[in-house]
Amino acid sequence: MPVTNFSIPEKYEYLVGFDSYHSEAHPCALPLAQNSPQKPPLGLYAEKLSGTAFTAPRHENKQTWLYRILPSCAHPPFEPVTAHNEAVETQHEKKHYIPNQLRWDPFDHDEHAEHDFVDGLKLVAGAGDPTLKQGIGIYVYACGRDMKEKEAYYSADGDLLLVPQEGGLDVRTEFGRMLVRPMEIAVLPRGVKYRVEIVGDGKKARGYALELYQGHFQLPELGPIGSNGLANARDFQAPKADFEEDYGATAQEGKNEWRIKVKFNNGLYETVQRHSPFDVVAWHGNYYPFKYDLGRFNTIGTISYDHPDPSIFTVLTAPSEKVGTAVADFVIFPPRWLVGEDTFRPPWYHRNTMSEFMGLIQGGYDAKKGGKGGFVPGGASLHNIMSGHGPDRDSYEGAREAELKPQKVGEGSCAFMFESCLMVGVTEWGLRRCRKVQGGYNKHSWEGVEVHWKGRNSQ
Ligand SMILES: [Fe+2]
Repeated sequence: MPVTNFSIPEKYEYLVGFDSYHSEAHPCALPLAQNSPQKPPLGLYAEKLSGTAFTAPRHENKQTWLYRILPSCAHPPFEPVTAHNEAVETQHEKKHYIPNQLRWDPFDHDEHAEHDFVDGLKLVAGAGDPTLKQGIGIYVYACGRDMKEKEAYYSADGDLLLVPQEGGLDVRTEFGRMLVRPMEIAVLPRGVKYRVEIVGDGKKARGYALELYQGHFQLPELGPIGSNGLANARDFQAPKADFEEDYGATAQEGKNEWRIKVKFNNGLYETVQRHSPFDVVAWHGNYYPFKYDLGRFNTIGTISYDHPDPSIFTVLTAPSEKVGTAVADFVIFPPRWLVGEDTFRPPWYHRNTMSEFMGLIQGGYDAKKGGKGGFVPGGASLHNIMSGHGPDRDSYEGAREAELKPQKVGEGSCAFMFESCLMVGVTEWGLRRCRKVQGGYNKHSWEGVEVHWKGRNSQ
């Protein structure tokens, strides 16, 4: 028998676990020193949720034990959702693989409150296939109404990284509740059920999201930076267990009808069950939803000359099987000081073996001044693999002549990037039907760049 009893207050108080977390919404709901007792405490069911293979290496292994009123399997079979759904339609559209640089005007709001969060997710671009657990989906969302009161959703296809741009979201998950506002991000792991309400006046929300078909996000390695910096582990927040009692004597005898929707291989299915999916009284493990305040990012840059690669701004990374190469990096460009001497301070011109999808949460972006439409909050750009890009003409000329005193850039601004080792295809909706692609982005940005070459005989 264990010599410790976590349920009895002692003189010494501890947080419990080694690289894992737990939460208990009712005293003694977590079993003592084991996971699956013959009779779990309080008459709960024990249910395991695995985020990796059981046998994944210990440093990658993600598993959580849930203690709930009824198990997740207690529902009638799922049926395909047959009603037309534009969000699903974007999943199955032909993808266009094009080398041109693309930029989008701000995506539309859901002006007529037609869509909830799930219906408002539109696939803009992507790569790979969830059946093979390879690839990513890049989305924008716009919603003008809450999900129905008794509705929940999960994706079997991947983890969803959520980047709100306008409007806060109250995300009720099986693990507890999270408030996710612009300048915060959240990760909703594969399989976790949730329901989204819009917070704030006007009931409008808009933002970006990335679905990761393979692996999970983790903090980037810090190498010579050392043990602190960039996004610090202590600043990530996980919800506390928070359950509701909405059930009958059996799984079939509940009072209410809960509609559960699932995205499965990019199709949408639903079932109606008689009990709430938000009945988890306690949980412990290391596979859970979480959020992070981007304002807490510890930004690092040069204090001598040149500037580091943009990977120095990585918040979270989802590694591929190739060491140092990400299926998806989530990178931000927050307010920061530029002090580099004899340095071209904006991002340099480059062609990248990775694809770069950028969005703007708020403010302006220091590498793009002019151009029709511009790069503005709620819009986006895509510079696919080996597509050359960099500052537009005016930004280049300005930076070339600027007096190099210490300068704060990006005040009140935050651009971000989904960077991937994969070539992404743009959906028909993203390229045409959304009607936001800016004509002449390339022309307005770079066709006017000037020749500064002084000739062979110059010194
Ligand atoms: Fe770039």
